[in-house]
Order: sequence, then structure tokens, then C-alpha cells
Amino acid sequence: MKGVILAGGLGTRLHPLTKITNKHLLPIYDRPMIHYPLMTLVDAGVRDILIVTGGNHAGEFLRLLGNGREFGLDDIAYTYQEGEGGIADALSLASHFADGEKIVVILGDNIIEGDIRKPVDAFRAQPKGARLLLKKVPDPGRFGVPELRDGRIVSIEEKPKSPKSDYAVIGIYMYDARVFDIVSTLEPSARGELEITDVNNAYLERGELEHDILEGWWTDAGTFESLFRANQLVREKMIEKLTARIG
Ligand code: G1P
Repeated sequence: MKGVILAGGLGTRLHPLTKITNKHLLPIYDRPMIHYPLMTLVDAGVRDILIVTGGNHAGEFLRLLGNGREFGLDDIAYTYQEGEGGIADALSLASHFADGEKIVVILGDNIIEGDIRKPVDAFRAQPKGARLLLKKVPDPGRFGVPELRDGRIVSIEEKPKSPKSDYAVIGIYMYDARVFDIVSTLEPSARGELEITDVNNAYLERGELEHDILEGWWTDAGTFESLFRANQLVREKMIEKLTARIG
């Protein structure tokens, strides 16, 4: 399975921090944000990775990550998103890279406590379709929100005013190769973007959408509050690790 990290966008919710750099290069405790999704993929055994970025600071990713040797990779692929077409538009740029294989897509500002080995293995064994990860959150209205019935997802709404559950669809998505055909049929949403939630609903309509509940904490880092929280959570995790090692 191949991996795609989406690290474009203008990060306007973090202005003025993102006026002079890309959101995914901002620090989370002791590393640039992009290190975390990259480690999440590498830890899940994904070694063939594409970074989709854009904007004025795209070149910095190459300087920071190079060929990925620091992460035990042989190489990293990069591509550039022109304009601001949204997550699904950024994903469409990975079509050539995916070359008919299944992919795991991770948003560059999504940070998790644990790992995704189990769901990735489950998707390797899944004959076709898509697989999402859900996490219970106190503020579902900020995210894609699933409606659940008898343990199955029956609908997903993007940033609903009245959320139908207290789960978020987190920014780690697994798709078969047909995802690119689905993206090509999408129309821009009210915010002028091709929405990843529409991709997920297309799989749902075909009855080909599975999910797991993520273990351990999860956060995004695209707002001042979530960026701050991400720093706190990562710091706590590092300190716990260090304390456990010292004994
Ligand atoms: C995006 C997706 C949303 C998802 C979230 C996870 O939101 O549109 O469905 O729950 O990422 O981080 P955005 O970061 O664009 O607000």
C-alpha cells in the first residue's frame, strides 16, 4: 500500500503564523508538524510516500525531509498543488503516483498518540472500497461527522450545525484505486472546495465503506486552539516515554 500526505493549503485559520511559512512546517513540541504524519505512515509499514504541497513555501519540504533517509525510507515523492481546490483536489494529484494500488491518505496536520497498524492491515485484507477512522470528540461540528446505526456508518456530514453523533471522521483515509474516478465526478461545495466527505459518501452509497475506532488520542492542528493542544499532547507523550525509560 502507498501513502499520501496532504500538506497544502494556505492555513488561513492560523494567520499570521502561516503568512511566512506552510502550516505543516510549524513546530509541534520538538519537531515540524509534517514529521508526525510521516512517522505515522512509516510506523504502519508504508514506505512508498508522496507529499502533496503547494503555496509559496513548498520548496522547504524538500530541504526539511530530503529523500527521507532520516525516516528509514529510500526516497520521498513530492508534488505541487496549484491553487486552493480542497483536500479531494489535492488527492487527485496522487493518481499517477498510486498507479492502481491502494492508498492510505493522511492530512498533514493530523497527529495521533498510537499507531494505525491494525486498520492498515485490515484494509490490506479488505477486497475493495474505503476504510475510515473515527474518534469521539467534544466538538464534532468542526469535522466530518458520521451518523451511526447498528455499528455502521449511514451518512457523513461535513461540519454539521447539529452533529448526528459525537464522532469525528479523522484525517486518515484508506482508498482503493477507484478513488480517483470518484474525485473526478465531484462538484465544489459551498466553500468552493472538493470535499473529502463527498468522496467518503460516494463509497458509502456503493456499500463499500468500512471503519475502525482509533485507539489513543487524536488531534488536528489547524486552529490556534488545536495547535496548542497538539503541542501539549505530544509533550505529555514524550515526557511519559522518557519517564518510563528512566524508570
Ligand atoms: C478536514 C475534513 C474533515 C475532517 C478533518 C480532520 O477538515 O474536511 O472532514 O474531519 O479534516 O482533521 P478541515 O481541516 O478542512 O477543516
